[in-house]
Amino acid sequence: IQHLEKTVRPEEGVIPSYVMGDPKIHDIEHKKLFTKTWLFLAHESEIPENGDFVTRDLASYSIILTKGNKDGIIRGFYNMCTHRGMKLCRADKGNKGQFTCPYHGFTFQNNGDLVGVPLQKDIYDGKLDFAGMGLHSVRIDSYRGMIFGTWNEDPEPLTEFLGDFKWYLDLALGRTEMEVVGPPQKYVINAHWKIGADNFISDSYHTMVTHGSIARLGMVPSSKYSKKGYQVHTRNGHGFNLGVPNPDFAFPEELIPEYKRNLNEEQFDLLSNIKNMIGTIFPNLSILVSHTEIKGKLISNTSVRLWRPISVDKMEVITWFFVEKNASDDWKERSRESFILTFSPSGIFEQDDTEVFTDITEMASGYIPYAKNFNYNYTMGMHREPVQDFPGPGVVYDDKFTEANARAFYRHWLDFIRK
Ligand code: FES
Ligand code: FE
Repeated sequence: IQHLEKTVRPEEGVIPSYVMGDPKIHDIEHKKLFTKTWLFLAHESEIPENGDFVTRDLASYSIILTKGNKDGIIRGFYNMCTHRGMKLCRADKGNKGQFTCPYHGFTFQNNGDLVGVPLQKDIYDGKLDFAGMGLHSVRIDSYRGMIFGTWNEDPEPLTEFLGDFKWYLDLALGRTEMEVVGPPQKYVINAHWKIGADNFISDSYHTMVTHGSIARLGMVPSSKYSKKGYQVHTRNGHGFNLGVPNPDFAFPEELIPEYKRNLNEEQFDLLSNIKNMIGTIFPNLSILVSHTEIKGKLISNTSVRLWRPISVDKMEVITWFFVEKNASDDWKERSRESFILTFSPSGIFEQDDTEVFTDITEMASGYIPYAKNFNYNYTMGMHREPVQDFPGPGVVYDDKFTEANARAFYRHWLDFIRK
């Protein structure tokens, strides 16, 4: 930790490469960050009916998120049988009022109560402590349908953890009722998780080059790569890049009355003017609203992705595609097409980025002193002043090409893990 404090110097634009490549970093992050902070688990639209459940990962531990079959309350449980520790549910999703353990058949109601034990009267003489053997509940909370969980026994409330960032989150995911389409898509890459989080929170600069081939192929006009826009971060290391202006309203127009109900006037004005929104909720949930031309019209697509660390040089990328629930079927289909073409696992932008993430990880790994102790340069925009007249909260720069958000992200990261 002392070495980290000495060598990670975000305010000077200095981030050493070992924070992306040293296996010790993975252990420190697991103990001090991932088991302590709020992490994204699911969207409520993934478990709409009573009895619906999904199994998800919370800091590398499996949990069941389930909607009570009698009371409709969403609960989280450690996915471990309280008899002898078997993983209770091995399906990704489904609908069940009860979960029966595959080892000895203990059965739990989906409110966590132990309700059935094979032969219990005979073999435990009716004396088994049912009440003390319920599933272990996991703390969860939600904002605008986004469910987060934490292992922290005494966390900052979710609403405070998100804080002023909610103003922007509302534009991205709260502007109207959103729903997840299909199960989340998952893939594993040999890359360190922070590179993804960092890319989305602060790196508008790379689009011109990394994704340049798309413009050269004529699939987007090269003028699309503009530094015009804003970069904003709020307390706790959350941040967004907002591309403006939008030549064409890229959201379903029939939902404008809904946007106006859910957003204040300043938020709605900004939404009407936004070309794309790319950001990260600390530590590892990135959000993306991007626009693509489909059949002559600009269509937005909305997705979130989780950069789930597996080891220092490997992560699982989990992507949820969201669509406006009340939009027309035709609009939904075009939005899906726009997503698949760009940022789905097979999308052209996604594949460009994962190549970069894996190569940076490879360069930062291993034992060569130069590769481990190399300092990345994060000085872009360091001498510019934030703007004061932006309608939204946080520290705002009127330019997407700055690394202010990354510096704030690493500052918060360092403060968090040295606690
Ligand atoms: Fe689950 Fe025994 S471990 S019933
Ligand atoms: Fe990219």
